[in-house]
Amino acid sequence: MEETRNKQIIFKDFISGIPKETDMELKEGKIKLEVPRGSGAILVKNLFLSCDPYMRGRMREYYESYIPPFVPGSAIEGFGVSKVVASDNPNFEVGDLISGITGWEEYSLIQRTQQLRKIQQVDMPLSYHVGLLGMPGFTAYAGFYEVCSPKKGEYVFVSAASGAVGQLVGQLAKLYGCYVVGSAGTKQKVDLLKNKLGFDEAFNYKEESNLDAALKRYFPQGIDIYFDNVGGPMLDAALLNMRIHGRIAICGMISQQSLSEPEGIHNLYMLITKRITMKGLLQSDYLHLFPNFLELVISYYKQGKIVYIEDMNEGLESAPAALVGLFSGKNVGKGVIRVANE
Ligand SMILES: NC(=O)c1ccc[n+]([C@@H]2O[C@H](COP(=O)([O-])OP(=O)(O)OC[C@H]3O[C@@H](n4cnc5c(N)ncnc54)[C@H](OP(=O)(O)O)[C@@H]3O)[C@@H](O)[C@H]2O)c1
Repeated sequence: MEETRNKQIIFKDFISGIPKETDMELKEGKIKLEVPRGSGAILVKNLFLSCDPYMRGRMREYYESYIPPFVPGSAIEGFGVSKVVASDNPNFEVGDLISGITGWEEYSLIQRTQQLRKIQQVDMPLSYHVGLLGMPGFTAYAGFYEVCSPKKGEYVFVSAASGAVGQLVGQLAKLYGCYVVGSAGTKQKVDLLKNKLGFDEAFNYKEESNLDAALKRYFPQGIDIYFDNVGGPMLDAALLNMRIHGRIAICGMISQQSLSEPEGIHNLYMLITKRITMKGLLQSDYLHLFPNFLELVISYYKQGKIVYIEDMNEGLESAPAALVGLFSGKNVGKGVIRVANE
């Protein structure tokens, strides 16, 4: 069989600090569009790839995380939506659309097929399966309902609120009958939160010299639920503003992820005085709820009760800049790369 061009984004080597485009490089290889017999593998054409902050964690040489580091010299791995073009696996047929972990390349040979999900909802845009209907959306769902234990009428604060996870957390909280405030890093994002995503209030944390005072302004009565996507000084300020029996879901620490010395948290004493529950969240612990999540979110979406904002980047070549952009807030909504049309 003839070989086909296969452009790839290669992870060069382990890094420290904030990721840079030069930590990755575009290479052009060749691939045969076939699968070795008896391998159980599938060969896919990648359509959409997902940019996610956790990928920074895979760029350091650390083997004790829930996911191993990237392999220097190999294509970056991440969530994607792909089409099966050859299969040696009875569970997948040529033409199937799937979502799950794939490579940052035009075509990928996937050996570990257990975690792949066949896409049934062909009436929803395919790219949504790496965002609203994929891992980030599911994180919002599991984090809000399972970790935050919400009650109607409660006061909810969400950081990185216009991003992939935050935008859905805020909307689910509103639908639950909560009062919701989000923080984000630009005026454009603040406007989106207030005017498109239905948050009650929003503020630009980069314009606030005192985060404690900002939270006191937006929550004079205190916060019942803080959905933390950023960690660091915002978490410290939120601790000072929690109400008695408040809950904090620790979902992400993007402000700390690239620091060699993480900043300390000073206000943990509030956990005692306010009897706060603070809990770490990993979406993969809740995967048994994935079908319920899809059913609810698709139904809300089709009824026009939630909206979804994507930051679409065109072509595999755009992938390094799109990934790096997450760490300076360049993405407005869920960061996605369109590699190919079906
Ligand atoms: N625990 C889990 O299972 C799980 C699963 C998915 C995601 N997460 C975590 O959830 C968080 C949000 O993920 P996402 O996919 O929704 O990303 P995202 O919000 O779509 O993109 C990241 C955003 O973080 C903000 N940011 C970047 N650097 C920052 C800094 N130094 N301080 C404060 N904010 C900063 C930027 O928004 P602004 O312009 O608003 O600053 C940026 O747009 C991340 O921490 C991620 O690691 C956790």
